[in-house]
Amino acid sequence: MHIIATTAQSGIKDFSYLNQFLEESGFPLVAREKQSLDDLLQAHHADAVVVCYREGPVLYHDNAKFFFHPSMAKNRLAAYRKSGTGDPLVNVCRLTPDDEVLDCTLGLGADAIVASYFTPAGRVVGIESSPAVAQVVKWGMKLYDSSMSWLNEAIKRIEVVNQEHYEYLQGLDSGSFDIVYFDPMFRRPLLKSQAISPLRALANHRPLDKAAIKEACRVARKRVVIKELAAGTELQRLGCEAIISGKHRKIAFGVIEHRLR
Ligand SMILES: C[S@@+](CC[C@H](N)C(=O)[O-])C[C@H]1O[C@@H](n2cnc3c(N)ncnc32)[C@H](O)[C@@H]1O
Repeated sequence: MHIIATTAQSGIKDFSYLNQFLEESGFPLVAREKQSLDDLLQAHHADAVVVCYREGPVLYHDNAKFFFHPSMAKNRLAAYRKSGTGDPLVNVCRLTPDDEVLDCTLGLGADAIVASYFTPAGRVVGIESSPAVAQVVKWGMKLYDSSMSWLNEAIKRIEVVNQEHYEYLQGLDSGSFDIVYFDPMFRRPLLKSQAISPLRALANHRPLDKAAIKEACRVARKRVVIKELAAGTELQRLGCEAIISGKHRKIAFGVIEHRLR
C-alpha cells in the first residue's frame, strides 16, 4: 500500500512529532497546498493519506478514516473501576501487577491498554505488522491526552513496534515475557464488531502460524493466550491445551501454560 503524509488545510503550527513521525514511518510528506485529499491521492498515485493533526495522525483510505481511539478499552476499564466487573482477557491471562506482556497483534490497542492498566509495575509491548496501523496507533497513543489520568498512564506505558510478530519473537531470548498474547483477525468477521471495521482494510489477515506459536511458547515465562471465534477449530489447530469460553460467548481464549510443556 502506497501511503503519503500531509498536514491539515490550516498548515503546520509547530507540532513537534511530525519530523519523527515521517522519519519512523517512511511515509513521504507531500505539500497540502489547499488541495483536497482525493486530489492529493490521485496526484501522487497513493492508496492512502495520513493527515498529521496536532492531536495525532488520521489515515484516510477508501472513504474511511482510521485513527487511534481508546473507547473499547475505556469502557472495559470503566466497568471494572465502577463495579469491579472482571475483564475476560485479564482473567484468562491471570495478570499480576508486575507481569511483562507481549501483545503480538496490537490493532487498535484495546487489549494492550487493558493489559497495561492491570500491570502498572510491568511492561506491555505491542507488535503490529501493518505499517499504517502501527504508525497511526503508535503516534495516537503518544499524543493521547484525556481528563482520565488512569487511562492516559495505561496508554503511555505501551511500547509499539511495527514488525511481523514471528520475526520479533525470533529475536527474543527465551522467557523474555510473562504472557504472550495473540488476537488475529477473525476468519469470519463478527458483523456486530463495528469498533474494528476501519481496521479491516489495513490489517494483516493471515492466519496464525504454528511456527509463531512455537516461538511464543519459548518466549513466554507463564503462558501463551490466543483469542479466536468460539465456533471455529483454530485453537485446536494451534495446539491450545485449554479453551475458555463463556456459555453464550462467541469468543474463546486458548491457553498454553508454560509449566505444562
Ligand atoms: C483483531 S486485530 C487486534 C485487535 C486488538 N487486540 C485490540 O484490542 O484492538 C489484529 C491485528 O493484528 C495484526 N496482525 C495480524 N497478523 C500479524 C502478524 N503476523 N504480526 C503482527 N501483527 C499482526 C493485524 O494487522 C491487526 O491490526
